Amino acid sequence: MILLDGKKVSNQIKDEIAQEVATIKERGEKVPHLAAVLVGNDGASLTYVGSKVRSCKKIGFDSTLIHLPEETTEATLLKQVEDLNNNPEIDGYIVQLPLPKHIDEQKVLLAVHPDKDVDGFHPTNFGRMALDMESFIPATPFGIMELLKRYKVETSGKHTVVIGRSHIVGRPISILMSQKGEAGNATVTLTHSRTKDIKALPLQADIIVSALGVPGFLTADMVKKDVVVIDVGITRVPDETKEKGYYITGDVDFEGLSEKASFMTPVPGGVGPMTIAMLLKNTLLARARHQGKQD
Ligand code: GUN
Repeated sequence: MILLDGKKVSNQIKDEIAQEVATIKERGEKVPHLAAVLVGNDGASLTYVGSKVRSCKKIGFDSTLIHLPEETTEATLLKQVEDLNNNPEIDGYIVQLPLPKHIDEQKVLLAVHPDKDVDGFHPTNFGRMALDMESFIPATPFGIMELLKRYKVETSGKHTVVIGRSHIVGRPISILMSQKGEAGNATVTLTHSRTKDIKALPLQADIIVSALGVPGFLTADMVKKDVVVIDVGITRVPDETKEKGYYITGDVDFEGLSEKASFMTPVPGGVGPMTIAMLLKNTLLARARHQGKQD
């Protein structure tokens, strides 16, 4: 089994981006600037956003963290989004999800200007992606595609079974892997909570992308030999013996499957670090597109 090492590949990508930033600086031009809006104090969101901001610093991007209290109103958040849309210093930004229950998530995502939507969540970007047009591709599926490409995993004509139909992972990866091009040309089955016998379908798969969030869901008896397994599940399991009070685990019984699979992503250290690297890549792209428009 070959490990799809997201930590290693994400570091390579960050090094590549850092080199581009160095060149931008040498030319005396404005470096990319990513902003992140976080509402409330959700533990996982704090970790993710902190990690995104730290990565920006490491590669030479400017970054701004806007941390708003849990009780922030929808109107205040929409005003913040509007300010970011109008701020020429900001090349791209994200609004970290989930948002508190009293805020309409869809309304907020629709307010993000598509040219600054480095998460690729706005319908303009999602629609453009689905139609093979230039867009921002959501960072997690973008990261999966990049891992498959860099490890030269054959996808053409292969049967990919995606588990989970979320807007952030399952839906977009099912579109991307069915499109023409590298890491594409797969025949994709998108499974979800209403799929009949969801446990039987993975047995037919050459490639499985699991984005369910159920620890240990995918077991060795559910896959065929030489399967490629992409584990997108990141669940915090409470454990008092750990310093943080929890440990992180994926959807896949890693030990059980490692005997049977040809390629596998670990959790942690697989898809997670790739997501951050691709968000940075999107921000670099956003800057280049803005500059292009100004010239
Ligand atoms: N919450 C979980 N994943 C993501 C992501 O990729 N972007 C944003 N904005 N929020 C998230």
